[in-house]
Amino acid sequence: MEIRTVPTAPIAGQKPGTSGLRKKTRVFMEPHYLENYVQSIFDGIGGVQGKTLVLGGDGRYFNDRASQVILRMAAANGAAKVIVGQNAILSTPAASHLIRSRGTDGGLILSASHNPGGEDADFGLKYNTPNGGPAPEGVTDRIFEATKALSEYRIAVAQDVDLSTLGTTRLGELEVEVVDPVADYAVLMEQLFDFDAIRALFASGFTMRFDAMHAVTGPYAREILENRLGAPAGTVVNATPSPDFGGGHPDPNPTWAKELFDLLMSDDGPDFGAASDGDGDRNMVLGRHAYVTPSDSLALLTAHAHRAPGYREGLKGVARSMPTSAAVDRVAAALGIACYETPTGWKFFGNLLDAGRATLCGEESFGTGSDHVREKDGLWAVLLWLNILADTRQPVKALLEDHWRTYGRNYYSRHDYEDVETEKANALYDGLRAKLGSLPGQSFAGLTVATADEFAYDDPVDGSRSERQGLRIGFADGGRVVFRLSGTGTVGATLRVYLEALETDPSRLDRNAGEALSDIARAADEIAGIKAHTGRQAPDVIT
Ligand code: G1P
Ligand code: ZN
Repeated sequence: MEIRTVPTAPIAGQKPGTSGLRKKTRVFMEPHYLENYVQSIFDGIGGVQGKTLVLGGDGRYFNDRASQVILRMAAANGAAKVIVGQNAILSTPAASHLIRSRGTDGGLILSASHNPGGEDADFGLKYNTPNGGPAPEGVTDRIFEATKALSEYRIAVAQDVDLSTLGTTRLGELEVEVVDPVADYAVLMEQLFDFDAIRALFASGFTMRFDAMHAVTGPYAREILENRLGAPAGTVVNATPSPDFGGGHPDPNPTWAKELFDLLMSDDGPDFGAASDGDGDRNMVLGRHAYVTPSDSLALLTAHAHRAPGYREGLKGVARSMPTSAAVDRVAAALGIACYETPTGWKFFGNLLDAGRATLCGEESFGTGSDHVREKDGLWAVLLWLNILADTRQPVKALLEDHWRTYGRNYYSRHDYEDVETEKANALYDGLRAKLGSLPGQSFAGLTVATADEFAYDDPVDGSRSERQGLRIGFADGGRVVFRLSGTGTVGATLRVYLEALETDPSRLDRNAGEALSDIARAADEIAGIKAHTGRQAPDVIT
């Protein structure tokens, strides 16, 4: 097999963000773009000579072509073996599981998660370490350094590998094992949850709709929910993955999964609804007339996890990202377990999970997971909910209201201002950062600022420090607003404003979240000048 060494030059901007490198698909398809980045990953992790890697993606446009390039480059760089999902498909949690269960040297995941797919949409590539989790900052920094020093890449000259047939083939010296993307993952779920109890729940007439949003979870949800758990055929909708996700935006939230949301809010909807994103790591959970915020979901799952066999022994601790509401903190306090507050992005949970300090983790951005893998896991969260529903035989709404009565309710909402001109977003953000020190004691929209700081995280396991992780402002009445700039966008800047207010008065637990948070939203605008800086009168997406 001929190996070519191709001269190249560094390409600016190949900096991994919150979750790997994300760019417009057409950018990834430019000459040398993908190849440069793959070689930089290989160089950044000390080469792949003799190593075994996992490879797969969410099936979006260019997933197939990019996978063939990566295989040829792995062969040219001396890798021993690549384990690939059939047709180069693997959900992110399934990839994480394979990396771990097969004892590999890590893996490459092709995905831009919930960003739309297609030739004119988004693409992404991320390296996960041997623990199955997204590369921590030390590793992504080395990859970024490698992109800036690159002068050549190596690639084999070869025909495409047949990735449609299960089994082992070769690409020169490289062994390529094509595996069923669903099988191992489904077995793991059977180990964690009481499938008999969930089967009995469905047999009793319990109804559900799972919206796979034309993305990667379709085959996983069909196999597990319909084939193994006996949910009626048709429970999983939009179950066939497509390269452009059916032209949609595969983000499971009330805006992008509106049809499911509206169905569950109607009187004739099913008992339970759920959706997942492009690569299967996010989830949204709904009951009839009940929307479960991701922050509440984490808190409720923490309170009830012992009902599932995999968590019967109790939880070692929990972790949430800083902008996620503090709902889980009070459950952790009641359980007497540790609760960690990390920066945004799943990579920060890895050390806590590896060190046995946390069992469950979650983010407000529709991400929940546990130490069974090192990624968030959409279907896992849905199955834990089903296990809890099977055990309690209570409607979602009743469980949620009971939870609020016990622990109080954190009204919560995130306002996203998308595709803001980068200079305007930076001006807003830097301006706010500069005046943080002067805010305490001042009042905005009738609320007095008690604290204002920029979040930095000291990892308790490896001692590393991550600075500049969001601006947070606490009000005297316990409310909070957080400002962050997104690290996953591909054009312009996205400003995220996270609003939160704790309510413990039992007579005020069933308010509309928008109303309950209206003062804080006004204060946020007065403090940061959102309208003035962005020219926007309202957020683009409210979740
Ligand atoms: C967003 C979410 C974050 C999540 C990430 C990857 O990142 O906010 O919680 O981990 O996507 O799914 P952001 O765009 O805010 O940097
Ligand atoms: Zn995702």
